[in-house]
Amino acid sequence: MKDNFYITTPIYYPSAKPHMGHAYSSIVADFFARLKRIQGHKVFFLTGTDEHGQKIQRAAEKSNKDPLKFCDEISKTFRNLSSLLNLSNDDFIRTTEKRHASAVTNLWNILEKKEEIYLSKYSGWYSVSDEAFYNEDEIEDLDGKKISKSSGSPVEWVEEESYFFKLSKWQEPLLKFYSENPKFILPKSRKNEVISFVKSGLKDLSVSRKSFSWGIKVPSNKDHVIYVWLDALTNYLSALNYPKETERLYKDFWPANIHIIGKDILRFHAVYWPAFLLAAGIKPPQRVYGHGWILSGDEKMSKSKGNILDPIEIIDIYGLDALRYYLLKEVSFGNDGNISKEKLESCINSDLANNYGNLCQRVILFCEKNLALKVPEKYSFTKEDLKILNDFNENIKNIEKQINDQNINYYVEYVVNQLFKANKYFNDQAPWTKKDDILRLNTIVFVSLELIRKISILLYPIIPNTSLKVLNIFSMMEKDIKFDTISNNEYLKDKKEIIKLGILFEKIKR
Ligand code: MSP
Repeated sequence: MKDNFYITTPIYYPSAKPHMGHAYSSIVADFFARLKRIQGHKVFFLTGTDEHGQKIQRAAEKSNKDPLKFCDEISKTFRNLSSLLNLSNDDFIRTTEKRHASAVTNLWNILEKKEEIYLSKYSGWYSVSDEAFYNEDEIEDLDGKKISKSSGSPVEWVEEESYFFKLSKWQEPLLKFYSENPKFILPKSRKNEVISFVKSGLKDLSVSRKSFSWGIKVPSNKDHVIYVWLDALTNYLSALNYPKETERLYKDFWPANIHIIGKDILRFHAVYWPAFLLAAGIKPPQRVYGHGWILSGDEKMSKSKGNILDPIEIIDIYGLDALRYYLLKEVSFGNDGNISKEKLESCINSDLANNYGNLCQRVILFCEKNLALKVPEKYSFTKEDLKILNDFNENIKNIEKQINDQNINYYVEYVVNQLFKANKYFNDQAPWTKKDDILRLNTIVFVSLELIRKISILLYPIIPNTSLKVLNIFSMMEKDIKFDTISNNEYLKDKKEIIKLGILFEKIKR
């Protein structure tokens, strides 16, 4: 049996409606979840919403709504986006749920009991928008206003009684943890950033707030609410029914294999989170991957900048799989990526319509005209046939290795190359010239069908709906999609009929 695999997206703030950055984190996580499932792993894939804290309380006040009612509404839009994106998540957690509160309180109690938390006073800068405390050297002046250097969000002065987590004590253990787990933070450039941040010295972290009430109360002192990041990070545990550590779900899936997050929330995941866990005697997750930002005209896409490509609108116009394919292929994973409608359209035309769509259409149409949509029973592979078919078995180990390091672009590039090769094979072999050599004609068709099948399996994590549509022509259902079968050159031997296939992607006219 293969190892279990637990993957998460960040939990999203329901302070405004979802945008492309959220869609991106989710699509990436879904890609890995689906891939791991077809590789035969038992997968738990989690997403959800982060509903406490001052940011949400203020957003609710602004709309004149009770915070929970406010969250109920917007959390729903995130849940809807999950279905719209065809996420294969196993759970959707909301931090306002009871199961979550009991996990957070439990973790807090352990930390308090272990004397990792003490009461003192915080005076310093706080950004409500980032829900983050900033040091003096992390802020700057902009038109007379103080803002965070890293995020550009406004900060305000806070002075209040607060509980502190002894983060400073964890500086050395964290550095040791990073060096013993060299792939805990990926990509490498971000790992270096985190290490130098930790090396520069960690101060104890304020982990409670007193001046507002929207959050989980500190169990021993109801005047305080638990800092929203300590609350939010714990979602990864509460979805596994923590503190029920002896039960199946927790035993099967903790520690998480990977948290997919954006680079802006790396410090919370790669410094605070493992420190809380180490302090509580819980194993930290195995990996945190900080992806880049989706940019529009070189700027982070954000509501305040008004440069948003709305995922719902894009899906409405171009379809979901086009968007999934585009984001996974064109954004270099780990780096920032500039996206535009123009680039999305070229991607649809060149890769999806001309390359994949064309291959499927031509082969199936030929098969319909010449073989009455039957899988050829008799065939005999030449050396050349075997070369193109075996390319998959020869590369599969390497692809798996690359993908275990989240090298999405390597994976997509391999698939695109195979598509080119398959189209070229069909062209060069020109089965329409082999009408007096039925065995050869049959063989070319058989090989081409196998290529379509193999490539469609590889495409499944990227464009699940379309891949499934194609695999359905061989009467393959979702449960039949198995990565291992890619190496089989004669999987289709026992299949008889092929079901006709409609157009996969319409070309965009410009
Ligand atoms: N609630 C916190 C996460 C808590 S996880 C325990 C949060 N929420 S968020 O809604 O603001 O952002 C969620 C994710 O979306 C982050 O990973 C963030 O990086 C990502 N994105 C938000 N805007 C983005 C882009 N423009 N591009 C790519 N991703 C960005 O932070």
